[in-house]
Amino acid sequence: MPIRAWFPTFVYCEPLQKNGLARLNTDLADECRRLRDFDAAGRRWSAKNYPGGYTSYASMNELHRFSSTFAELEKKLDRHVRTFARHLDMDLRGKKIRLTDFWVNIMPPTAAHSLHLHPLSFISGTYYVATPAGCSGLKFEDPRLERFMAAPPKKSGARRDNQVHVTYPAEAGNVILFESWLRHEVAANRVADERISVSFNYNWS
Ligand code: NI
Repeated sequence: MPIRAWFPTFVYCEPLQKNGLARLNTDLADECRRLRDFDAAGRRWSAKNYPGGYTSYASMNELHRFSSTFAELEKKLDRHVRTFARHLDMDLRGKKIRLTDFWVNIMPPTAAHSLHLHPLSFISGTYYVATPAGCSGLKFEDPRLERFMAAPPKKSGARRDNQVHVTYPAEAGNVILFESWLRHEVAANRVADERISVSFNYNWS
């Protein structure tokens, strides 16, 4: 082949564990909703910055320090993040991966999460807790998009890895990991039930 692909952008998607996901997700969903009831500051912040939805991003974003459920989840996520970092050939110089921020997102109908990235971390991700049929997925943008300048648009049937966006369906029980600089968004939730996820940032130190 005279043409090869270089500089790939990797996204990791894998079930958190082989068994017991339904039970775990029921417990987690309960805890996420209790947190919303309890977290008045988070509800106020969300009303301004996350219309229609609730996130503990600005109020309770170290849940692994305060909740045994989240501390357990942290241990399970560590394994996935280590696998992903190994795939990226990252030399951590003897340092450890460390979960720094861990927060809840609840998206009722109409709530959306516009394009963003995750500063001050190197690997970020989401674990899906409740994903009613038809809820929005996680859409990633080609990180080179602003450099395309005069390039023609891609054909409608372009090869998957030549397209400038990719959307991963939100599926309860799955972990999605990406490098923190990769921009992503969640389109407005169009289904009646709440879409619940927990998101996290990892550092190395
Ligand atoms: Ni995000």
